[in-house]
Amino acid sequence: MSLIKFLLNQELREESDLSPNMTVLNYLRTRVGKTGTKEGCGSGDCGACTVVLGEREGDTLRYQTVNSCLTFISTLHGKQLLTVEDLKAQDGSLHPVQQALVDFHGSQCGFCTPGFIMSMFSLSKNKPKAKQHDILEALAGNLCRCTGYRPIVDAAKHIAEQPALVDQFSRYQTETLARLDLIEADTLVTLNGNDKVCFSPTSSDQLAALLVEHPDAQLLAGGTDLALQVTQFYRELPKMIYVGNVAELKQLSEDDEQLVIGAARSLTDSFEALSRVFPDMGELLERFASLQIRNQGTLGGNIGNASPIGDAPPVLMALDARLVLRKGDTRRELAIEDYFLDYKKTAQQASEFIEHIIVPKPKAGQYFKVYKLSKRLDDDISAVCGAFNLTITDGKVTDARIAFGGMAGVPKRAATCEQALLNQPWNLATVKTAMLALTGDFEPLSDFRASKEYRSKTATNLLYKYFLEQQSLQLETRVTSYV
Ligand code: FES
Ligand code: FES
Repeated sequence: MSLIKFLLNQELREESDLSPNMTVLNYLRTRVGKTGTKEGCGSGDCGACTVVLGEREGDTLRYQTVNSCLTFISTLHGKQLLTVEDLKAQDGSLHPVQQALVDFHGSQCGFCTPGFIMSMFSLSKNKPKAKQHDILEALAGNLCRCTGYRPIVDAAKHIAEQPALVDQFSRYQTETLARLDLIEADTLVTLNGNDKVCFSPTSSDQLAALLVEHPDAQLLAGGTDLALQVTQFYRELPKMIYVGNVAELKQLSEDDEQLVIGAARSLTDSFEALSRVFPDMGELLERFASLQIRNQGTLGGNIGNASPIGDAPPVLMALDARLVLRKGDTRRELAIEDYFLDYKKTAQQASEFIEHIIVPKPKAGQYFKVYKLSKRLDDDISAVCGAFNLTITDGKVTDARIAFGGMAGVPKRAATCEQALLNQPWNLATVKTAMLALTGDFEPLSDFRASKEYRSKTATNLLYKYFLEQQSLQLETRVTSYV
């Protein structure tokens, strides 16, 4: 099918001659004339462009915020797109979320306001009885330069204290689901325009065949990194294959032994699944970019773009994860640490793609912790991300997997440090020796996030912190324990 179909609120839109490089933000503002959604940074940092996407999940609609500045139009097929203009009731009155922001004086210049409204709207749908913690998480990806956050948070708190909201979206949910079901979501969709093309396959077989036929195509998952090529560097992406509709890549399954996560599963869903098994993942989940980015970005994308400062790779290395790579009809499994070869260089061949990520479940005596160091608590990139996974048996270290992001051109295990721990008694003397060994594992760089000295010092101190936490489980060592 050479067109995409989606609901813009309740209006069915069919688009066939649009550049696949067009973002949803530009589409709304220049094609539809809906200018309520604003552009601030154009790079996923400010949340001014926040819109909400609705998708069927079982018998209900799941609403999620995304940054429209980083969302390409072809990813909308089969979804419902809601913008700030859609929130007012049929009689023209404000949505309760909008009214709360007015009542609590949560807006001054108003530039950030539509984005905050959409984040608050989505929160009211997903967590009607949101607690302070949920509110701060939902709003962490929305920046305001003039109002200050207290009145905005107060407005969100007020909404959470009300009886469950009944609005036009809850009233017409059944009809909306029926209208979405009418969109053929299980066929290969192509969007052509301005000499560019984006294919949206729906099965792993289709994706594999397309990539063999078009080895020059760029894989588009959440687009939170790829779209920057267009919005920040003004480059063109002539050929893309969108993997967000590939059923197998969206799957998430688990048994007694392992979790299997489809590469196109969102970071939100992937990290939630991982945090059920590895509770310490929970903190990283909330400090990994913003909710909008986590809803959009995928686990496979965070691995595939091979950034040395991506937070998922060191965690997955420490957890001994394996990747299932597919090219045509051939699949191979690769330990994630063997995937990263050099700065932005991976073992992935032409026409190959990550299909699944396999994460073994913890065994007896394993103790997993991950630490992220960044300048801001929320919505920031790591200066250093350290993941530690030691197995202690009868007071001895019987397995050691330690990996860091931000310490080298690739995410990397601390091999010498691990060797210094292995088969040694788990005590302070061993930890001090391993800390010394760790300094030889990396030669970090200085950049605007951190100096090389800071990186070296904090990386070794994280091992010490890990030791202290393990020795005294009640010790409050995290900044997040105090916010
Ligand atoms: Fe800033 Fe999109 S414009 S996040
Ligand atoms: Fe001006 Fe928030 S009210 S940026």
